[in-house]
Amino acid sequence: MTKIASLSTILQETASLPETQAQSLPGVFYTDPDFFRYEVDRFLSKEWHCLGRADEIPNPGDYFTTKLFDEPLLIAHGEDGIIRVLSNLCRHRGMQLAQGAGATRRFVCPYHAWSYNPSGQLRNAPMMREKGVTGANCRLPEFRSEIWNGFIYANLDDEAAPLSPRLAGLEQLLGRYETAKMRFVRAFEEEWQTNWKCLFENFMEAYHLSVVHPDTLHPYTPTGLSRKSMSDDAFTAYCANYPETAAPRGAGAPGLTEEERRRSTLFGVFPTHIASQAATLLASFSIQPLTVDRIRVRWTLSTYEDHLTQDELEQRIDLWNEVNREDREKLERMQTGLSSRHATSGPLGPKDLEGTIWDFQRYLSRKMGTYEPALVTATAAG
Ligand code: FES
Ligand SMILES: [Fe+2]
Repeated sequence: MTKIASLSTILQETASLPETQAQSLPGVFYTDPDFFRYEVDRFLSKEWHCLGRADEIPNPGDYFTTKLFDEPLLIAHGEDGIIRVLSNLCRHRGMQLAQGAGATRRFVCPYHAWSYNPSGQLRNAPMMREKGVTGANCRLPEFRSEIWNGFIYANLDDEAAPLSPRLAGLEQLLGRYETAKMRFVRAFEEEWQTNWKCLFENFMEAYHLSVVHPDTLHPYTPTGLSRKSMSDDAFTAYCANYPETAAPRGAGAPGLTEEERRRSTLFGVFPTHIASQAATLLASFSIQPLTVDRIRVRWTLSTYEDHLTQDELEQRIDLWNEVNREDREKLERMQTGLSSRHATSGPLGPKDLEGTIWDFQRYLSRKMGTYEPALVTATAAG
């Protein structure tokens, strides 16, 4: 039995444990490069991944760039009002067209000045008339994308089933927050030395909150008040409830219940989108797996109307930066030890604290399924 086959078996066995006996996955699942490549080929490269927020690019001509696996992406708000996920590669000889984020009427290639409109259609290819290159026959390739509650999701697999029907359960949890109406505040991008699953699990478990974030999160979202929420095949969630003594954090959408106003609702859309939805602030994280022990984290903050002042928003930005620094420090320290022979499986905490990790394991086991050697062979050959 090959290594991947035996790891697949361990995953199936771990994920089938009853919730009360849930165990963590051994370190090898987070450190083995072959297992990582198998994950990418088997399901990660065919899944829906959140890239960012529609409110980042509210007007025609607005854009931002990012990458998903090997694909440089240009997410652009077309002059026709449609947001598209385009290939960020010039059709002439493959130069990357745009960098960063901004607003423009034309993307002009920095190599030979071919230009494209924000819908991706070629507008001009200098001195190429006799070659017959025109806007009618040349445009940037477009990837599958969906906007759900203001989140821009993309899928590199043209055959993938649509995302929105899968998220009906999560809609119930988020419905009253009016997530789609949130207004963009700021975007950040950084690289962390950790396995992609470690950040998903860390964000989605409440057990570490009071320990890792004693000054930042504990006063608002202490471990002891956190409760697991809904979950299904597509997502998991928990409610990080605020203590009675916590100061109000703004009203948010008019239809919210008092309970919803006094908590942060943390959800993870499998496999790489994690977010914290509070009444007046949405923090959304896209985990982009790079290697077995490296990820790009693209995260955004959005707010509800003008319920927070600019000063309050700046404080929240500082707070989230500090929270991320605290998590990153722990995850990077953990990653350096996970290759140890003693990085075996350990018991997961009670449902309200780490039940979300058990949900995540069951998603992974569904996606990995029974080991298929052909996939590994094809990968090695390709
Ligand atoms: S590569 Fe873009 S114009 Fe030549
Ligand atoms: Fe944390």
